[in-house]
Amino acid sequence: MPDIISIGEPLVEFNAESLGGPRVGSLYSIGFGGDSSNFAVAVSRLGGSSGYMTRVGADHFGALLQDLWHEERVDASRVITDERHPTGLYFILRHGGRSEFVYRRADSAASHLEPSDLPEGMIEEAKLLHVTGITQAISQSACETVFAAIERARAAQVTVSYDPNIRPAIWPLQTARAIVRYTIPQCDVVLPNLDEGRLLTGYEDPRAITQELLELGAPLVVLKLGSSGSVIATPDDYYSVPARPVLAKDPTGAGDCFDAAFAVAITEGKDPVDAAIFATAAASRVVQGLGAVAPIPTRSAVLEDVSELRAEVHPRAS
Ligand SMILES: Nc1ncnc2c1ncn2[C@@H]1O[C@H](COP(=O)(O)OP(=O)(O)O)[C@@H](O)[C@H]1O
Ligand SMILES: [Mg+2]
Repeated sequence: MPDIISIGEPLVEFNAESLGGPRVGSLYSIGFGGDSSNFAVAVSRLGGSSGYMTRVGADHFGALLQDLWHEERVDASRVITDERHPTGLYFILRHGGRSEFVYRRADSAASHLEPSDLPEGMIEEAKLLHVTGITQAISQSACETVFAAIERARAAQVTVSYDPNIRPAIWPLQTARAIVRYTIPQCDVVLPNLDEGRLLTGYEDPRAITQELLELGAPLVVLKLGSSGSVIATPDDYYSVPARPVLAKDPTGAGDCFDAAFAVAITEGKDPVDAAIFATAAASRVVQGLGAVAPIPTRSAVLEDVSELRAEVHPRAS
């Protein structure tokens, strides 16, 4: 059984090769997305033992995703093929410097995930379960599946890591706020980005945001700050980990890779600061390439950057 389990919605990506909206003859290159699937692939490339649970459609795109997980050595042996609902898709349209994301994911196979889909033992025998707010947002049954998975992990003393990944396009803000704030105290590690931290707490400042999220009951909060790095907060400590100064081309998937690297490191027994350094190095490689999956680095590539980062980390006085 894999050590690190992720549950959610995978998507097949159609990325426009030229500027402007779709036109006759426009070319699109196929890639992959979906935060939880990106996470599962990243765990594997970073040297972890990765397992994924979802539903895909009985279609070409589901088969393509199965091939991806197979090639990436993600254990997807328990993924369900849903005969009645399609695999979710999205298009990336390019308008000069701006990218537009167009989703075709409503009523996707993954949105029909339900608690009884969770295989016996898969969570209980893992070291870490990773869940995200996108999975809670896509449907009520998927949301219930996330809560059921968390409950089973907690009963078996399996670490629960949680990325709120709040997407206003698919989740009314009031609902997102209520569900994420309800979920946080059930998790061991919470990894929001700055926008999400602000939305959840009403505070602007990382220190105040992490303080409030700790008070909700999460023992460890990792607040991701884009090109400003991240802060790691526990009831006793507050550390700042700077980002690597790199030429960023595309931030897509940086957070998912950060989460995956953090999960790999803590399941290996690293402390949260060392885990964040490993995660920062991994995420910095993702922002330098295009797309969420293609630029995910291997473990050895990340380790080259780690020692340089370690010298820069410092605790912050309160
Ligand atoms: N421009 C950047 N340069 C270097 N590292 C970056 C950059 N943007 C993001 N990162 C790294 O990726 C991590 C996650 O990115 P962030 O944008 O904060 O999260 P999310 O993708 O969840 O919104 C950051 O904590 C940082 O380590
Ligand atoms: Mg994110």
